[in-house]
Formats: sequence, structure tokens, C-alpha cells
Amino acid sequence: MALSAQSVEPLGASPPPRHVAIIMDGNGRWATKHGMPRSAGHRQGTEAVREAIEGARDAGVEYLTLYAFSSENWNRPQEEVTDLMGLLKLYLSKEIKNLHKEGVRLRVIGCRDKLSNDIIRMIDKAEAKTAQNKQLTLVIALSYGSREEITVAVRKLAKQINDGKLEPEDISQAMVDSALYTYDIPDPDLIIRTSGEQRLSNFLLWQCAYSEFLFIDTLWPDFTKQEFQRAVASYGERDRRYGVRP
Ligand code: IPE
Ligand code: IPE
Ligand code: MG
Repeated sequence: MALSAQSVEPLGASPPPRHVAIIMDGNGRWATKHGMPRSAGHRQGTEAVREAIEGARDAGVEYLTLYAFSSENWNRPQEEVTDLMGLLKLYLSKEIKNLHKEGVRLRVIGCRDKLSNDIIRMIDKAEAKTAQNKQLTLVIALSYGSREEITVAVRKLAKQINDGKLEPEDISQAMVDSALYTYDIPDPDLIIRTSGEQRLSNFLLWQCAYSEFLFIDTLWPDFTKQEFQRAVASYGERDRRYGVRP
């Protein structure tokens, strides 16, 4: 969902970012650094997920998106993919009750085709259970790739044209926006990537048009809510111009 220039914060105030998105990177390097297998890094990474959620709630952030597994991550060794899916199942079965109690609404974005049926069922159930919660929307990007998302959106619009319901010249940016997985989620104000890498790796390419970026060296399993607070403070010092303010 695009944010218009009119929704920019009033002068003099610096409200928290409404939507923070995190590329949670560095689990493997954290494990290597501690002489452990990569799976241990992923496990430790779930602790950092807890920290990020707490940080977001404390800061008054409305949407927190976590990049958990990319379309390209399916190409990792089968053993690692199995580990990651196992962790996800564990997370969903253990944490949903707590998240629900804390007023967190869960949304999962990404391509479900390759996910196993039991994971899809767990996601559907968790989304339904938490649908009315208002404290924080936690968006998990799972089997997510921005190019795939945009391709699916293009297909939807092409089908409408094919069915005679839409003229090509009537396609607007808002229509493209509405055909994305994120149709009901505002664009991210702040995108954080951990582990020192400075790239997007196929994350929210359309939605990040006017996002602020923060690249930090911390490896994801070491991420804390204090670090989240620092990120929000650094965002507060940014001057967002949207091409309109000199
Ligand atoms: C992020 O950590 C987790 C996923 C991508 C699923 P990595 O597994 O990419 O860790 P590094 O980048 O190899 O350290
Ligand atoms: C991006 O991290 C994907 C997630 C954090 C889920 P990767 O580790 O997969 O990205 P690259 O390979 O370094 O670009
Ligand atoms: Mg990585």
C-alpha cells in the first residue's frame, strides 16, 4: 500500500516509523563464530525475533515485517531448508498463544506453493486466530521474493485484461499496489538489514521506493530490543523528502 506525500509527519515532531521491516541476516556467521552448526544460529535467531517484536511494541510501531525465508533460500542444502521449516513450525506452535495474548496480529506473505500442508494449515489458523488484534501487525515474509510477487501481480492484471474487465491504459500504480501480497500493509518506513551486508536480496522492491535504510553490523542472533530502539532513534533524525521538500 503506497504512502502519499501528504501523510508525511508534521514539522517538528518525529513519530516512530509506522512500519519497520527487517532483513534478518547473519545466523550462519554467528554459528561459525561460536563454533556451532548453522542450525544453532537459526535457533538463536528466534530469540532475536522475540527482541524485535518487543522493541517494536515498546516503540509504538504498528507493522513489523520480518524476512524469514526468501524464494532463493529454497536453493540452500536440503538439510538447512528442513531445519528452517522445522524451526518455523516450532515457532508457530509455541509462540502464537503468547503473540495473541499480547495483541499481535499475524500476517504471512509469500508464495505458499512450496510450503508443506501442515505449515500452511498452521499459518491459516494463526492468521485467523489473531486477525482482530490491534497492538502490532507482525508480517512474516516466508518463501517471499519481490520479483515473484510482482510477477504474480502482473499476471492478475493481465487476466483482468484478458477477461475484458480492464483496459491496459487504465492500469494505475494503485492497482499494481493492490495486486501485491502487501495490498493492506503500508509501505515500510524503515528497512533494517543486519550482518553488514548492504543489499535487499529481493525484498519489498516495489514497496521500498521511499523507505529509509539502516545497515548494521550486528549478526541477527545478537540483535536486541535496545538495538531496535537505536534504529528507531536514528530513523527519527532522517529527513524524508519524497522528492517534494527542498
Ligand atoms: C539469515 O541468516 C537466515 C536466512 C536467510 C534464512 P543466514 O543463514 O543467511 O546467515 P549467513 O548470512 O550465512 O551468515
Ligand atoms: C536474505 O538473506 C533473506 C533472508 C534474510 C530471509 P540471504 O542470506 O538469503 O541473502 P544473500 O544471499 O546474502 O543475498
Ligand atoms: Mg545470509
